[in-house]
Amino acid sequence: MNIIQVQDYEEMSEQGAEFLFREIMSGRSKVIGLATGGTPVGLYKHLVEKINANEVSLTDVHTVNLDEYIGLSDDHPNSYHQYMFQNLFQYIDIPSANRHLPSGTAADFSEECRRYERLIQQLGGVDTQLLGIGANGHIAFNEPGSPFDGRTRVVDLAPATIEANSRYFNEGETVPSQAVTMGIGTIMESGRIVMIASGKEKAAAVKEMLTGEVTEDCPATVLQKHDDVTLIADAEALSEID
Ligand code: F6R
Repeated sequence: MNIIQVQDYEEMSEQGAEFLFREIMSGRSKVIGLATGGTPVGLYKHLVEKINANEVSLTDVHTVNLDEYIGLSDDHPNSYHQYMFQNLFQYIDIPSANRHLPSGTAADFSEECRRYERLIQQLGGVDTQLLGIGANGHIAFNEPGSPFDGRTRVVDLAPATIEANSRYFNEGETVPSQAVTMGIGTIMESGRIVMIASGKEKAAAVKEMLTGEVTEDCPATVLQKHDDVTLIADAEALSEID
């Protein structure tokens, strides 16, 4: 794994944006896998700045998100559809037909998961996939115990993940307990992976990912088996590495 150590969240965001920007500009990556959560917010801000400063058109780029909460409609303020619109899509010219996320309100989730897998295949696979990491080592919403060959499916979120996500919801509002997520098998088929990690609450998971035994108990350890992964992590996230 290629590790880029940076000082802090700001530098991680800048470097992560530069990584994706270079992928897009080179024409190497036409299908970009995107993540949500707190970590990529700064990256998207920098990416928008770079795209707009260079007047880059992205009309031939497709984006494929990792996951969506079950039960939240596309226009729910806490849905990942809205997150992507607020943080990225409203500022750039990727056509709406090219922005792909699983639906959180499908009538038939088995079919929705199959549709999403088919879509990725039809696009020719993900060229570059952006990932964050959960404090318990999850990637996308593949919690500990998820199969390494898993495909897009409905999952129950771990109590710790529901708790971590509750900070984005209003008091009294129910935090979703299930999501549709790309599987680890799907993620591992991406041509290139870039993970960003910041903060000491990620330090144990980052250490396990880099140095631990490859086991489904810590999903991120599977990345040791992918031959093109770049980790951009700040000093706190790397603080448990000797
Ligand atoms: C979301 C996703 C999750 C997050 C992870 C870390 O699309 O893929 O795996 O990357 O839960 O979340 P934050 O960045 O909020 O710490």
